[in-house]
This record gives sequence, C-alpha cells and structure tokens, in this order.
Amino acid sequence: MNLVFLGPPGAGKGTQAAVVSQALGIPHVSTGDMFRKALKEETPIGLKAKAFMDKGELVPDSVTIEMVKERLSEDDCKNGYLLDGFPRNLDQAEALATFSQLDAAVNIAVADEKLIARLSGRRFCPKCSGTFHVSKLADEKTCPDCGAELIQRADDNPATIANRLSVYHKETSPLTAFYAQKGLLKEVDGDQSMDDVSAAILKALAVNL
Ligand code: AP5
Repeated sequence: MNLVFLGPPGAGKGTQAAVVSQALGIPHVSTGDMFRKALKEETPIGLKAKAFMDKGELVPDSVTIEMVKERLSEDDCKNGYLLDGFPRNLDQAEALATFSQLDAAVNIAVADEKLIARLSGRRFCPKCSGTFHVSKLADEKTCPDCGAELIQRADDNPATIANRLSVYHKETSPLTAFYAQKGLLKEVDGDQSMDDVSAAILKALAVNL
C-alpha cells in the first residue's frame, strides 16, 4: 500500500506513522527525519535545509522532491511505503504523481490550539527516534524505551511553531482538496487518544488486523 499522511505540525503524523507502518509492514518515510539526519551528519542537503527548518519554512522543492524520489526507488519501498511530511505543497504532490501511484492520503485533523500544546511539550529520542510528550513522561529527560537522553527539537519553540502553522495553512492544507478530488482522501479525527487515532486510521484504510 502506498500511503501519505497529511496534517498540521503536531497532528501526530510521526506518532501514527510508526504504528501504522509497523502494522502494515511498510517503511515509514519521513522527510523531516531525513532532513534532521542529514543535518546531524552535516551532508550538503542537511546544511542547505538547516536555515529553512530553523525558521519553519519549507526546504526548496528542488532539494526535497529529488530526495523523496530516490528514497522511494529503494528496494524496501517496492511493496509500499508510508510518506510522512511529503508532499507539503501542490508542486510536490504533482511531482509525486509522476513517479508513484498512491492508494490513499490520510488527513489527521487537529485544531491549532491543541497543536501548540503538543509541540511545546514534545520530547524526542535521538537514539531510537521515539516521540513523547512531557505530560506522559515520569522523567522528561530520559527515553522510557531505550534510556537515552531526550531532546527538544530546535523548531519546537513558540516563534517557529507559529510560522510552521502559518506555512501549513497556506501551502499544505490545500492538499486535502487535491486528494479529495482524486478520490484518495481519508479524513481522521486526530483529537482522540493515540490508540483511538491508530484504530481510526486502520479502519479508514479498511485494514483488519
Ligand atoms: P516535520 O518533521 O515533517 O515536522 P511537522 O510536519 O511540523 O510535523 P511534526 O513532526 O512536528 O508533527 P507530527 O504531526 O509528526 O506530530 P508527532 O507525532 O511528533 O518537518 C520539519 C521541517 O522539515 C519543516 O518545517 C520543513 O522545514 C522541513 N520539511 C519536512 N518535510 C518537508 C517537505 N516535504 N518539503 C519541504 N520542507 C520539508 O506528535 C507531536 C506531539 O503530540 C508529540 O509530543 C506526541 O507525543 C503528541 N501526540 C501525538 N498524538 C497525540 C494524541 N492523539 N493525543 C495527544 N498527544 C499526541
């Protein structure tokens, strides 16, 4: 199954992609994770992306589209993939359609007020890539899964969160209409418990486990 997860920053795309990709046995391809890894390794793509990510702006399509095209051509994507964070605008969606056919686009909807609280309290494990919220952690410094030190993402600060939301509404939210028009859109309420959101996504995809 070739899937895309849409939704604003903090909607739970990464959280749900981890669960659903495992349930379906397909790789989770997150452009945000790819850029953060490239930045950590100081590759040319990472160094180019940094200034955009720091401001909450989109990395230029010339960089992003080629990176995704290459990743989807790898062997592990032959039987399906779950794209998280791509496409982010209409040009990316149109480019994707030239090199891959989607089965569904799942839009995880959450109101802006909730997103700010989610993103401000998010903690990330750089070792096992686990994503958590301080409200659910007994010790907000240590990963409950692998024991590594948790970090706060550089773009989870109030000014950058505000810009990411604004960029989402301007550039990314039109994609729901784009995929609805193609008959591929599945709408899911992201303002439920994480388990209920996972169940709603699998139901929308008509997957019985
Ligand atoms: P990216 O990493 O894609 O960030 P994003 O879209 O802003 O999304 P997030 O990762 O912030 O949120 P999420 O929806 O995955 O939520 P999560 O599951 O973590 O992109 C970062 C940057 O990279 C961009 O700004 C851009 O610069 C660049 N970039 C990436 N892709 C690009 C592209 N295609 N083109 C150009 N540039 C690109 O959950 C958030 C929090 O909420 C967590 O604390 C979690 O525990 C909690 N939570 C999750 N679900 C629930 C729930 N049901 N109830 C309560 N809390 C919940």
